[in-house]
Amino acid sequence: MKRKFVSLLLVAAMGMSLLAGCSNSSTEQTTTESPKTDAATEAPKTDDAADTATEAADTATEAADAATDAVGAADADLAGKKVGVCIYQFADNFMTLFRTELQKYLVDQGFAESNITIVDGANDQATQSGQIDNFIADGVDVLIINLVNSSSASTVTDKVVAAGIPLVYINREPDADEQKRWTDNNWDVCYVGCDARQSGTYQGEIIGDLGLEKIDFNGNGKIDYIMIEGDPENIDAAYRTEYSVKALTDAGFEVNCLDDQVGMWDQVKGAELVANSLSRYGNDVEVVFCNNDAMALGALQSIRSAGRTVGKDIYLVGVDALVEVVQYVISGEITGTVFNNHISQADSSADAAINYLTGAGNEHNIQCDYNKVTTENAQDILDSLQ
Ligand code: BGC
Repeated sequence: MKRKFVSLLLVAAMGMSLLAGCSNSSTEQTTTESPKTDAATEAPKTDDAADTATEAADTATEAADAATDAVGAADADLAGKKVGVCIYQFADNFMTLFRTELQKYLVDQGFAESNITIVDGANDQATQSGQIDNFIADGVDVLIINLVNSSSASTVTDKVVAAGIPLVYINREPDADEQKRWTDNNWDVCYVGCDARQSGTYQGEIIGDLGLEKIDFNGNGKIDYIMIEGDPENIDAAYRTEYSVKALTDAGFEVNCLDDQVGMWDQVKGAELVANSLSRYGNDVEVVFCNNDAMALGALQSIRSAGRTVGKDIYLVGVDALVEVVQYVISGEITGTVFNNHISQADSSADAAINYLTGAGNEHNIQCDYNKVTTENAQDILDSLQ
């Protein structure tokens, strides 16, 4: 199999403490890692022009891969194949970008639009499980699933495998034990996603690169921060929380967690939580870490309402690189973000589905890279998104 970033990434996600609260923000986590992929656990990368060039080369390789896949795709008569796609919740900015690209790419690869059905799990596992049953009854040829609850993976896998349908999980990574079952049984089941440790590391580096002098407004010698976490059902939340802070402590900074709250990836909740923290901790809040950009947009509203100014008396970072946020990075109203490449993830998921249909098969864990976004490269990222 030619795929460039395949590797088995065994993440002992279960058993991780996902409760918010400063004391838990750097809880120990048990991870079993493959010898490869772990960009985030290696020495932090300096994500500059050299990296951008490497990424461009990667994109070219991906394009070449996609072209090769397209050849196989033609053999499988994709136009006649039915694809079922389950999204955990349509009302999620990032997953909206993801599913839009997924549908477009599937059509580009030769699937008939009328044979692609994308359903909204409305953030309810029972609803999603019913949708999966309907897809099975309908005889879809392949399923792409963004679980509502990652912990439901084994039940979902069992029924989809029993129905003889290949399965591509996206965005919410099933735990290590579940992934081991796919390997041990040689099932046509895989996960496509990015390693969120990398995104957390990049967030921490964006802040650390500013230097303590610029950050330490209250002069206590520490970086005083608040953390706004995503839904614990997605391992991305725990990893971003842990690795953003770890990047700072690894770089030798002393940190002080003032507040750590769960904002469920949601802009409105993010705004509320940051408003509360700011009214409670006032000028002591030097950095606001948000596990995603939707919550960073909410945080920005509250920072403005509190009469604070990003870059002047507070810093703010997110993850995803939503267009609006990249524009704010350019204007200096958000310190930075991390590009969660919905395009490569969506395209790789579709490629994985096609590989099952053509009989080429897949590795069980297919990884993509994140990219750091700061004022230096934000315009380039924006151009690539529009
Ligand atoms: C994204 C979030 C999104 C979540 C959904 C994460 O990878 O960064 O924006 O809400 O996935 O599960």
